Amino acid sequence: MSEHERNILVTSALPYANGDLHLGHMVEYLQTDIWVRFQKMRGHRCIFVCATDTHGTPIMLRAQKEGIAPEDLIARVGEVMSKDFSDFLVDFDNFHSTHSQENRELVETMYLRLRDAGHIRSEVIKQAFDEQENMFLPDRFVRGECPRCGAADQYGDSCESCGATYSPGDLKNPVSVLSGTPPSERESEHFFFRLGDFEEMLREWVSSGRLHESVSRKLEEWFDAGLKDWDISRDAPYFGFEIPDQPGKYFYVWLDAPVGYQASFLNLCKRRDDLDFDEFWGRDSKAELYHFIGKDIVYFHSLFWPAVLTGANYRTPTAVFAHGFLTVNGQKMSKSRGTFITARTYLDHLDPEYLRYYYASKLGAGIDDIDLNLEDFTARVNSDLVGKLVNIASRCAGFISKRFDGQLSDELMDPALFAEFTQASEGIAQAYESREFARAMREIMALADKANQFIDTHKPWVMAKDPEQLHAVQAVCTQGLNMFRVLMGFLKPVLPGIAQRAEEFLATGDMNWDSVSSPLLGTKIETFKPLAVRVDPQSVNAMVDASREDLKTSEKTKPMDPIADEIDINTFASVDLRVARIVNAQQVEGAEKLLQLTLDIGGETRNVFAGIKAAYDPETLIGRLTVMVANLKPRKMRFGLSEGMVLAAGPGGADIFILSPDEGAEPGMRIK
Ligand code: 2FM
Ligand code: ZN
Repeated sequence: MSEHERNILVTSALPYANGDLHLGHMVEYLQTDIWVRFQKMRGHRCIFVCATDTHGTPIMLRAQKEGIAPEDLIARVGEVMSKDFSDFLVDFDNFHSTHSQENRELVETMYLRLRDAGHIRSEVIKQAFDEQENMFLPDRFVRGECPRCGAADQYGDSCESCGATYSPGDLKNPVSVLSGTPPSERESEHFFFRLGDFEEMLREWVSSGRLHESVSRKLEEWFDAGLKDWDISRDAPYFGFEIPDQPGKYFYVWLDAPVGYQASFLNLCKRRDDLDFDEFWGRDSKAELYHFIGKDIVYFHSLFWPAVLTGANYRTPTAVFAHGFLTVNGQKMSKSRGTFITARTYLDHLDPEYLRYYYASKLGAGIDDIDLNLEDFTARVNSDLVGKLVNIASRCAGFISKRFDGQLSDELMDPALFAEFTQASEGIAQAYESREFARAMREIMALADKANQFIDTHKPWVMAKDPEQLHAVQAVCTQGLNMFRVLMGFLKPVLPGIAQRAEEFLATGDMNWDSVSSPLLGTKIETFKPLAVRVDPQSVNAMVDASREDLKTSEKTKPMDPIADEIDINTFASVDLRVARIVNAQQVEGAEKLLQLTLDIGGETRNVFAGIKAAYDPETLIGRLTVMVANLKPRKMRFGLSEGMVLAAGPGGADIFILSPDEGAEPGMRIK
């Protein structure tokens, strides 16, 4: 099979359908989405499926509390999550639900095959029972004193204080978290999957390079501790699928959750003629199957799941990719610090592609935790995406548009330099393939530095003043835009939205991994539109404020001081100050203080309303240079949209003076 005929099925872990997605969850979905987009760009057939994980006691109780049916809860949460994912540009081929007909049929088949092959046994066990609520209690629904260290208020399965693990019956003074009453113990028949039957197969599976070494070590410990049979049944009341021929007994959520991967894929097969379930899941499947998960659910995915699949005559995963947890500002996410940030709160304040880039710049292949440091996030995005990447395009596009009617040169000025960019392609591809995204981002940004150096060396803005050198300006900018295009191709898995806008302005069509290697020459580009604006530290602060749970309303509504006592260098650096030429200035009908200015900042024009009517006759402003804040959030005013602000000094009224750089400065130059 040639490299370009890979068939790949990819999953992210299924999120529980009883809460909001937060930035911790997003590590995994963004990591997987980037990997999948990369595979698709390489021309492979890569299918990405997910679903909501809908069963179990917590979801049943949550629905009860809300006074709705669990089906209504999971439908509502599923919709909210779908929107979060699509707004983060996570592009599933299918997002399904474990409470689906496909999943019911598949898990029944799975169970019957395991049972008929002798891998299921039953046993009567004792379990905590809430007499008041009339239900068996999951371990986590019993709390009491740790039998080892005596710490109060510990869960029924483990002690957070000393780390001991035990069963709820061992707790001292146990109480049900549902009713607050001491639970009794009742007997009930449960069904167990004989994991031990698969030890040999699992040892072999685990040792054949399917797990990162950091995960394999953990597995060794589990083998050494001995593989215990797995309880796959739960008693009614339970929200899930009833076990065939066992009324009142339900499949444990963790049995049907991974089957949800198959169910989501099966559901997709019904809509897509080119996909066949057995081609991907059959025992002899040649397709690749990858599960992206968090390090906390490795046991389920690298022991239970491959064993269950084997016992039911399916193929096993090609590999399981585990990642670490997210910390924010170096600490566990916290509601009181405002660092427990939901996906939606983030989206309300910031651009999803910033987080995609930031996570990519931090992610490796192992299970190390990653930290979202909010100051570093702002600085990194502003420096890499705006200062380095987009800057290449914005410095070149204006000249091509203005001076050459959008026309690129017919040949590259420095083919050797361009080749350095395209030759990096395989190394970067290899980094993506092995999930070393941080390395890929470093290599791409090193190239962005080179592209900027090239432009700095040739200074098209200086050459542009000499009519003899006009041809050279076109050559430098064509070279610059082509280097930019290669980088944008490399970044497309991470920044699909920015890449699409770049494709539009370069008029280059849908870029795949190889297409950027042939330069764009002799064609016309469209007018450049800003591809990304700087992260505004105020937006980051607003996001944290909105996430702070104990925030008092009075504080929330307090007006912001107009001028801070001091600001740090990042805040200052985030203001994008540009030289601007006033190409038009006119009165605004009905406005007392405003003039309407049209500002040219090098290939791009902005409309700005400035409160300088009393100080200037508009005619006298036309043609002058001034300084503008180019990344001020556009503001809707009564008279139209104001897209920036002009810098001026003075007490006000007629005594106001716009700031003007010396002639010689070029529109678009950044103020340092
Ligand atoms: O840990 C969790 O959030 C689970 N809902 C993940 C399930 S992954 C798969 F097995 F379904
Ligand atoms: Zn303890």
